[in-house]
Amino acid sequence: MALIPQYSPGATPLDPEELQALIPSFITTQGLLNDFEQANITMGMTWAYASRQDVLTERFLKNLHKHMFDATWKWAGEYRASDKNIGCSYWDIPVRVGELLKNTRAQIDSKTLSTDEIAVRFHHKLVSIHPFPNGNGRHSRLMADLLIVRLEGEPFSWGGNINLVSPSETRIRYISALRAADARNILPLLEFSRS
Ligand SMILES: Nc1ncnc2c1ncn2[C@@H]1O[C@H](COP(=O)(O)OP(=O)(O)O)[C@@H](O)[C@H]1O
Ligand SMILES: [Mg+2]
Repeated sequence: MALIPQYSPGATPLDPEELQALIPSFITTQGLLNDFEQANITMGMTWAYASRQDVLTERFLKNLHKHMFDATWKWAGEYRASDKNIGCSYWDIPVRVGELLKNTRAQIDSKTLSTDEIAVRFHHKLVSIHPFPNGNGRHSRLMADLLIVRLEGEPFSWGGNINLVSPSETRIRYISALRAADARNILPLLEFSRS
């Protein structure tokens, strides 16, 4: 039996081809998928926190997604090849990611914004580009955590739940903070990231 996904509000649905790229054939429910992905992500986090590589490179960003999802999805670490309800056109992803990395470096060098604001803005911009078929929320929050640690800050608390995949009051607060950031008000997301 194939997996029948159940999406939370604000999640990006997979297209049929992307769904077919699920590696473990025993995963037939969203609950099993969430648990399996979480175990895979834990391995990815172990790799990432042990790594000494520069996190603000395209190579690291793609490698992190690969390490978070490589036991689950064949497209782990590969940019999406179709458009989604969120994000730029798929063909524009490499350019948009390159610009984001460059701008974030410039913000770090200029020291005008606080390190929290740099990392939270980076999270919002990255998840708005939506580079991968799925896992963009979890990947871009972990990228922000790794960035803030490199900037000598503490990892974010993300409303007490870095996973934030299942529907919950916390997820509603998170999505509405992202929408405020879409409308150029970063304050709710800054507040949420340390709540
Ligand atoms: N309006 C929005 N603006 C920017 N990002 C959004 C918006 N709505 C949802 N998102 C982000 O997209 C994520 C869902 O994308 P998805 O690729 O399914 O990630 P994941 O599988 O890790 O949840 C949400 O967790 C959130 O981070
Ligand atoms: Mg998802």
